[in-house]
Amino acid sequence: MQKQDLYALGYRAEEQVRLQAQARQLAEESRLLFDRIPLNAGSRVVEIGCGPHGCLDILSERVGGSGQVIGVERNEDAVSLARNMVRDRGLANVEIVHRDGRSTELEKNAFDLVTLRLVLVNVPKPEEILSEAVALVRPGGWIALHEADYLTFMCDPPSDAWARYLELFSDYCNRNGIDPNIGRRVPRLLRETAGIHDVGVQPIIHVYPLGHERRFIACEFADNICERLIAASMVTREEFAALRKELLDHVSRPETLVVSHLFFQVWGQKPGDQPGN
Ligand SMILES: C[S@@+](CC[C@H](N)C(=O)[O-])C[C@H]1O[C@@H](n2cnc3c(N)ncnc32)[C@H](O)[C@@H]1O
Repeated sequence: MQKQDLYALGYRAEEQVRLQAQARQLAEESRLLFDRIPLNAGSRVVEIGCGPHGCLDILSERVGGSGQVIGVERNEDAVSLARNMVRDRGLANVEIVHRDGRSTELEKNAFDLVTLRLVLVNVPKPEEILSEAVALVRPGGWIALHEADYLTFMCDPPSDAWARYLELFSDYCNRNGIDPNIGRRVPRLLRETAGIHDVGVQPIIHVYPLGHERRFIACEFADNICERLIAASMVTREEFAALRKELLDHVSRPETLVVSHLFFQVWGQKPGDQPGN
């Protein structure tokens, strides 16, 4: 029997569009993260959970025509969209494989960099993907993550709808082994469970003023998870509709302050003595 896919954000077509926009919104921050990694022309890179776009274009540029970028993605629609993006942009050094990031079937100890952005915060047992990611890195190679932590995700003035939505999301995560506060744990996971040394950490936080593309992210996430909350009898359709409307109204008010998740960019090197570090 196939295990239920508990990935928190689901696979609605609207979510794929949001992820395409997100690739553009986060590109500059991701470039800064990759500036910290000694990638060269010819480097080999894997992005796990690349979604419909991810960082594939940035990585493609960094490794050049003699390099290789492999995007690993579990969702079929995201794979098709990523392949279209790669074709449309003529990224000849990028390949997308439709596989589970927990067992990619790629060569172990082989890649100069393995990277993930906003994957671990949405999946049960994140250690499984992390362990596969580290296994793919060659000795002396690098791992780089961009993860979220719900610590700072807030609005002011406070709103009952915002609080209730976060409570529901948090309950969904608790029931399914997802850690919405994983961001703060990533440096420790890298050191203690993955044996990565010299772990670097860069925190990132934003406010989303009116007009900012990410201002309504709480509403978008609520829409992503709505059907599963209802299916699990965590909320009725009527309660969800009222909550969603109140949330939208609150975030639409110009005076409402919306603060982003706390993001952690975390990077480090796998022990080993191979040259080229
Ligand atoms: C929030 S999206 C982020 C997409 C992309 N990394 C970005 O930052 O734009 C997380 C992605 O991870 C994928 N994903 C989740 N679990 C996965 C797994 N076990 N194997 C491969 N991909 C997975 C999802 O399908 C989704 O496309």
